[in-house]
Amino acid sequence: MKLLKQTTLIFCLLFASLAVKADEGMWLPQLLAKLNERQMKSMGMKISAADIYNINKGSLKDAIVSFGGFCTGEVISSKGLILTNHHCGFDAIQNHSTLERNYIRDGFWARNNGEEIPNPGLFVTFIVRIDDVTKAVLNGVTGSMEEKERQSQVDKNIAALRKEVKKEAYQDSYIRPFFDGNQYFLFVTETYKDVRLVGAPPSAVGNFGKDTDNWMWPRHTGDFSMFRIYAGKDNKPADYSTDNIPYTPKKSLSISLDGVKENDFTMVFGFPGRTTQYLHSAAVEQIMTVNDPAKIAIREKALAVIDGFMRKDEQIKIQYAAKYASIQNSYKKWQGEVLGLSSTNAVGKKKKQEEEFQARVNKNPAWKTQYGTILADLAAAYEVLKPYGYARDYYLEITSKVELLTVAGWMNSLVTAFEKDGDKGYQQRLKQSKSALEGLFDEYNNKVDQQLFSTLMEMYYKNQDEKYQSPLFREKVKGAGANFASLADNIYQTTQLDEKEKAMALLDKPAAELIAIIKAEPVVQLYRDISGTYSSTVASGLNEVQARINKMNRTYVQAQMDVFKEKTFYPDANSTLRVTYGNVKGYNPRDAVGFDYYTYLDGVMEKYKPGDYEFDVPEKLRELNRKRDFGQYGANGKMPVCFIARNHTTGGNSGSPALDAYGNLIGLNFDRVWEGTMSDINYDPSICRNIMVDIRYVLFIVDKFAGAGHLVQEMKLVHPKK
Ligand code: ARG
Ligand code: GLU
Repeated sequence: MKLLKQTTLIFCLLFASLAVKADEGMWLPQLLAKLNERQMKSMGMKISAADIYNINKGSLKDAIVSFGGFCTGEVISSKGLILTNHHCGFDAIQNHSTLERNYIRDGFWARNNGEEIPNPGLFVTFIVRIDDVTKAVLNGVTGSMEEKERQSQVDKNIAALRKEVKKEAYQDSYIRPFFDGNQYFLFVTETYKDVRLVGAPPSAVGNFGKDTDNWMWPRHTGDFSMFRIYAGKDNKPADYSTDNIPYTPKKSLSISLDGVKENDFTMVFGFPGRTTQYLHSAAVEQIMTVNDPAKIAIREKALAVIDGFMRKDEQIKIQYAAKYASIQNSYKKWQGEVLGLSSTNAVGKKKKQEEEFQARVNKNPAWKTQYGTILADLAAAYEVLKPYGYARDYYLEITSKVELLTVAGWMNSLVTAFEKDGDKGYQQRLKQSKSALEGLFDEYNNKVDQQLFSTLMEMYYKNQDEKYQSPLFREKVKGAGANFASLADNIYQTTQLDEKEKAMALLDKPAAELIAIIKAEPVVQLYRDISGTYSSTVASGLNEVQARINKMNRTYVQAQMDVFKEKTFYPDANSTLRVTYGNVKGYNPRDAVGFDYYTYLDGVMEKYKPGDYEFDVPEKLRELNRKRDFGQYGANGKMPVCFIARNHTTGGNSGSPALDAYGNLIGLNFDRVWEGTMSDINYDPSICRNIMVDIRYVLFIVDKFAGAGHLVQEMKLVHPKK
């Protein structure tokens, strides 16, 4: 009896850890009807899967866009108005800011269409249709093929498929692998390239709490900005032109002013970037103990350097704002990830699953031949990967932060292009280099960069195996008596590449002359030695083992789907359109610590520090708060700001709409709670929460704070609960 109880208990625990929790998963919209609709309805959804994804008539998916390829946006008016996060529109906001017209500090609001600002290079993409093309893509592929051979067959099939795909001339298509290449889906898309900035709140609202509050709950950030899609006169995609007109969408979201309460159904619809849910425990352990810590240590030093300059110099503060935020963002996320993986014992849980996997495989002769050694093989391969992975992180983190090396890389690529493809290749590359370097130098200061060189190259030298280091660099270090500051000083004093004018002037010289100069440039020589050493000592070995791992992972994911039949699998995020759903809920991250699910404007005032870099509050907002003047946006005398729920989101879901049970817009996704950022690797419903700004706060800021009520006039506001 006792024994029976115990085994049932063990079985239940095991089953619970294997079955996908109600809240876990980033689901494909075209498969909701089959896989999720029942559960979604049982959790409170009042619409059907066909209202979310339908290729025959307008559905919610027609209001969702990939914003610039890195975030999500949604259409909120019949005149092509779109909403995304402040941090997603930040590059555009920064590009239009100067010391005199500082939109980062003061915000920006177009009073009419004529004042909306174009953004060359920015685009939004709609998904027209999603088709399963697995069979056709894998045509001619066999299990014994090497990765390279397989990939070239797959590429050939994909190219052929894309040629025949049924679509309009102005539409595009792409095909992406799912489940590590076990399935392939084709996406027909429409991309609009004339996207104009309509409005953004001041950073004191749009990025309130900055880096201290980033990835944290309780949160009080109004993280939103607005753009408008412009189309040709025929409403089809068109390059920027003053003749273009506001786009008329197939679908725009209705906006609910009723808010949510605990346990209400919510869903988030968008373009999550990348997750790795089906890794071997050895891989998870490596991320936790090797890769994340290495990257965290490097970024910590880089951030301290940049921050020191930004605090002293307003110009550098504008120039480096976006770069700093982006370096800081992953830095803090990885810290949370390590914490969450260890606090939820992710490696232990994976190991338990692996034991069960192996036991089931061993009992089934067919599986035993196919999958019998996959776990052991993967573990061995990850052991080979480990030193390479560490060296790769060091190389990539450091060479991307020291931008003089990036400049040297672009210069060097001219030499390579010339040697490989002659003058034609050179001219092509020259155009790319010019535009890349223009952009780089706009956000570059050689004093900051020199300090980064000195600090980070010291880490390159001290913290990794000598055999992965550039011999030329080691020689230089010796020559400088291991004084990294004076070494950096010497390098930046003598180079022509650390100032925009000098470097760009070089690019106007005749090819032969420029190539001679580049080849003689010590910084380029150093770059070549650093990158060359990386290629020969790290990349070659890394690529070999990574290819083997990729192949094994494809087998392992398939194996997990075969062996754990009781579980519904969802594919890892890969920047394609997904739906995730979950209920509104607080959480308890630590013993005796519990978090509520809503924040209010009163909380903004609690955090308010006059004149502070992160927590200042604009006078107008304080005044509205004093008068409790919340218009139609307040609730019970309070002004809601942010809320959390159990939606499984990741980077790229920024700007994604949070929708209620009826598909009305209730908020804008912009973050996750720190304790739960390991959801990219191992989701845990107890502490994983996504953070959304309440749509009523967005509208309150637009209307009452910024006086841009004409934009609210464009929208359709509803009261589903009344
Ligand atoms: N953590 C959020 C995301 O991953 C917000 C980042 C922007 N905010 C910031 N303070 N860096 O994108
Ligand atoms: N801020 C993230 C983004 O840019 C969303 C937060 C997350 O990673 O979940 O997509």
